[in-house]
Amino acid sequence: MEDLSLHMLDIAENSIDAGATRVEIEITISKSADRLVLKIRDNGKGMDEETIRKVKDPFFTTKTVRAKKFGLGIPLLAQAAEECNGRFLIDSEIGKGTVIAAEFQRSHIDMKPLGDIGSTMAVLISGHPEIDFLLSYERNGFSYRLDTDELKEELNDVPINLPDVLRLIKDDINSALKGEI
Ligand SMILES: Nc1ncnc2c1ncn2[C@@H]1O[C@H](COP(=O)(O)OP(=O)(O)OP(=O)(O)O)[C@@H](O)[C@H]1O
Ligand SMILES: [Mg+2]
Repeated sequence: MEDLSLHMLDIAENSIDAGATRVEIEITISKSADRLVLKIRDNGKGMDEETIRKVKDPFFTTKTVRAKKFGLGIPLLAQAAEECNGRFLIDSEIGKGTVIAAEFQRSHIDMKPLGDIGSTMAVLISGHPEIDFLLSYERNGFSYRLDTDELKEELNDVPINLPDVLRLIKDDINSALKGEI
């Protein structure tokens, strides 16, 4: 995958497949520590110990609806982080939810760009308007937050997945994150 937004999409889709009603995505960048952390937290069904252990193995998936016999979402993100002198962590509890965290050394030669986070959020929201998404972004003291739960209240009866609303969300995110990898 050529950028982090695609990994983010894949991991968030896992949360949705796991029945999450809220998915929280956190991007934290520290220039001084030379680190970028991508964290995705959900309130889905969670994973047991054995699944967590197997999940980093590209030949493991619980998906049966299609011919593909292996899952790649998690192994690919874990590999991307580890290649960049980083770490990958899964913390999950059955019935409670899952936290996936990938940490990268920002200046690493293999570091992927952040990509189009605005479009990725718009894709998630448009495909799953009933789910609440939180995007929080922090970069050396600058912070940005978009919570669809709050946004839905402000929108009143206007659907969040209206093309004009999605465009606003996308542009708002991308202008806040501008200039970053
Ligand atoms: N957030 C989550 N909550 C509960 N189970 C999860 C979560 N994320 C992953 N899993 C479990 O881990 C398995 C592997 O996930 P992974 O993303 O690597 O592959 P996949 O989703 O099965 O396939 P792909 O991502 O390639 O379409 C999933 O099939 C699912 O059983
Ligand atoms: Mg997946």
